[in-house]
Amino acid sequence: MEPYRHPDLDPSSGEEAFEFSLRPQRLGEYIGQEKVKARLDIALKAALKRGEVLDHVLLFGPPGLGKTTLAHVLANEMGAPCKVIQAPALEKKGDLAAILTNLEEGEVLFLDEIHRLPAPIEELLYTAMEDRKLDILIGQGPSAQTLKVDLRPFTLVGATTRAGLLSKPLHDRFGMVHRLDYYTRAELEVIAHRSARVLNIPIEDEGAVAIARRSRGTPRIANRLLRRCRDYAEVKGQGVIDAANAEACLALHEVDELGLDGLDRAYLEALCDKFRGGPVGIRTLAAALGEVEGESLEDLVEPYLMQIGFLDRTLQGRKATERAYAYLGLKPSAGPLFG
Ligand code: ADE
Repeated sequence: MEPYRHPDLDPSSGEEAFEFSLRPQRLGEYIGQEKVKARLDIALKAALKRGEVLDHVLLFGPPGLGKTTLAHVLANEMGAPCKVIQAPALEKKGDLAAILTNLEEGEVLFLDEIHRLPAPIEELLYTAMEDRKLDILIGQGPSAQTLKVDLRPFTLVGATTRAGLLSKPLHDRFGMVHRLDYYTRAELEVIAHRSARVLNIPIEDEGAVAIARRSRGTPRIANRLLRRCRDYAEVKGQGVIDAANAEACLALHEVDELGLDGLDRAYLEALCDKFRGGPVGIRTLAAALGEVEGESLEDLVEPYLMQIGFLDRTLQGRKATERAYAYLGLKPSAGPLFG
């Protein structure tokens, strides 16, 4: 099995280890996502009361909102281990069969990017999820036989950026489906304070406010900015993150007052200027931007631009809103690019 790296995590940055150290362990420590937490809290308590494992859970939403963290929290609350697998790293049915047969009783199996599971491997999950059985084909041709293997009770936590990418048979086998939403500024401020406390970084309220404002609703970004601001405060200031050095640091990294970065701005400029506001297809936009895949734009750039009212996704393609033009200091163009 090839090691697989999440595209949003720069392998050289040490970000995974950093995120790991900040991860809340229990539901009570997890900030935000109140509705999801309330529903999971009931499901956890009911499962514990009945002495059963937790039902399979599907978590969906943009990257960086805490799907992996939540899977670990669920395992901790159930008093069970958690195994994390990147679905695209599974190449053969045997890879998943080996994982499933080795799960401990009650273990949480977290399958990240579950929408990228190859179809034959996905089919293996159906009976595993439904009947805790695995159909293993032994041999080839007319003498081939199916062996049914019983699995120990387990909970599958699947994560995907968009629930719509999942096949219906797989989607239907999850007992719970939860959407994670962008965090509010206030929640991100609390997260910045909590992370600073865990990492022993002195931070003033105004410093946390500056970071929260520019985190595009995403804890992973808040924590990333916190790290940059710590470096800046240690080198240029007295080691305490305050409003002034946080603002200066974020300006240095070209994160603007809305939290938009270079890729977001390049996207908006291409859409508004080159394609005169659209409608334009995602592949055409990705090609215009060079080294980016349409899927990365759909996962990392577009959800937040839609959230802040800069972008409409229509059947005809992507369209910029007047707000997007105002942000870029441009005027909406008079007519379509072609015809
Ligand atoms: N760190 C990252 N996400 C978090 C969350 N939702 N609550 C607490 N700490 C976090």
